[in-house]
Amino acid sequence: MTTPATPLAPVRFTDLDLDAIAGAKGRVAVFVTPDGKLDKPARRVNRLTKGALARMVEEGALKDMKEGEVKTLAWPGGLEAKALDVVCLERNADALTARKAGVALGKLKERDPVLVLASQLRRPADLAQGIVLRAYEFEARKSKPKTDEPGEVTVAVSDPDATRETAAPLLAVAEGVFMTRDLVSEPANHLTTTEFARRIKEMESLGLKVKILEEAEMEKLGMGCLLSVGQGSASPSKIAVMEWMGGTEGDAPLALVGKGVVFDTGGISLKPASGMEDMTMDMGGAGVVAGTMRALAKRKAKANVVGLVGLVENMPSGTATRPGDVVTSMKGDTVEVINTDAEGRLVLADVMWYAQETYKPSGMIDLATLTGAIIIGLGHEKAGVFSNDDPLCNKFLRAAEAEGEGAWRMPMGEAYDEMLKSEIADMKNVGGRPAGSITAAQFLQRFVKEGCPWIHLDIAGVASVKSDPPHGPKGASGWGVMALNRLVADQFEGD
Ligand code: BES
Ligand code: MN
Ligand code: ZN
Repeated sequence: MTTPATPLAPVRFTDLDLDAIAGAKGRVAVFVTPDGKLDKPARRVNRLTKGALARMVEEGALKDMKEGEVKTLAWPGGLEAKALDVVCLERNADALTARKAGVALGKLKERDPVLVLASQLRRPADLAQGIVLRAYEFEARKSKPKTDEPGEVTVAVSDPDATRETAAPLLAVAEGVFMTRDLVSEPANHLTTTEFARRIKEMESLGLKVKILEEAEMEKLGMGCLLSVGQGSASPSKIAVMEWMGGTEGDAPLALVGKGVVFDTGGISLKPASGMEDMTMDMGGAGVVAGTMRALAKRKAKANVVGLVGLVENMPSGTATRPGDVVTSMKGDTVEVINTDAEGRLVLADVMWYAQETYKPSGMIDLATLTGAIIIGLGHEKAGVFSNDDPLCNKFLRAAEAEGEGAWRMPMGEAYDEMLKSEIADMKNVGGRPAGSITAAQFLQRFVKEGCPWIHLDIAGVASVKSDPPHGPKGASGWGVMALNRLVADQFEGD
């Protein structure tokens, strides 16, 4: 079987050729500053269109436009292109604003080729990344996918070689984001635990070292928490481990840990039917870990990072875990399973413990679509951030902000931890309705070793969204790949 990966639109950086503008097919994009200045290629376009751009400016068309926004002239006279996209942007716009402009163009692009006249912009590479990120469509499960290839993005720049170099890592990260989106978009009958592990194994071709732990081995390791979640499913539970050791030999790696529940019915504590189909995205944490590892490998990051994902399916059946069952974690602590729908924390507990025992990481970040409560708290704009370490946490928050990925720190504390007390075991797996996201984080913290800087990201609200997120179409967002990639760059690569 081959992996149906959604390809990035091809991007080409060229010198500006003013004489090629009139004959360009598809769409042409030009830039006008918020105060109405036309740059050199815009002046040529203005001449070709008999002054259309100058008229737009004079008649105040820019007044209601924010930086990064686009107005389109359809079937412009004087050009062969079917549309002229006029982008409002300062020439020295910062990376995020340039990307925003790209996203606006990517939304209009669909399958058309685009000629972007960016020779006077400071950050054409970020703009190109925005176009590519937005022009995503998951088509793998259509019987008649669109057959035309995604049209090429030609970006005319002042220094093609330099821009190509700047753009390479940005496009590598976009590939990681696409992988995450593909995984999150896949339905659970296609993305089984076995298929997920296979797609991760395929990344060995990128230079990642991949190991798959099967149930027999996890039993030997005593992973009673993780195994209790998958035992009602016909799909075998697995842990996939990805190593990228691109940094200094012997340096402790950063560990990324992901919840990979390929489908969450709730188990015996069955979820209501309405909306249950959304639980196909309950492997979102694992999806971000896989996508981030792909990005790091693709751009050959000079850092040591390991990614570990727990792949399970939470099903009700004659072999499923019952409410009231007590299971033993790899750490040795026992857990009373009050609610089989609080399964993500059980999976993470064992994968996190295994990650620390195996790699003695310098830090650990887990990602999980963990609680509905985080959606009540933060909606679909920001992920919940929980941490035992201010410096690492602040670095992550800065990285997320720089990438335009919403993140908000939540509190933790002793009083919340007490809500997990069990009458018969060391702890129970739920703390009740109040502060549901925080008690989930407290549960996880019990599986973090003393002295290990740790962040928990609850991405239940942001992994898949019903309206367009900042840099993609609605649906699977790929939230977190860019922030984690930047954190790795900042922390280990001196960027
Ligand atoms: N996968 C869900 C959380 C979730 C909800 C993700 C909505 C994405 C959208 C998780 O396993 C779950 O069921 N959590 C329960 C916990 C409760 C039983 C303590 C919840 O949030 O209701
Ligand atoms: Mn659940
Ligand atoms: Zn779940």
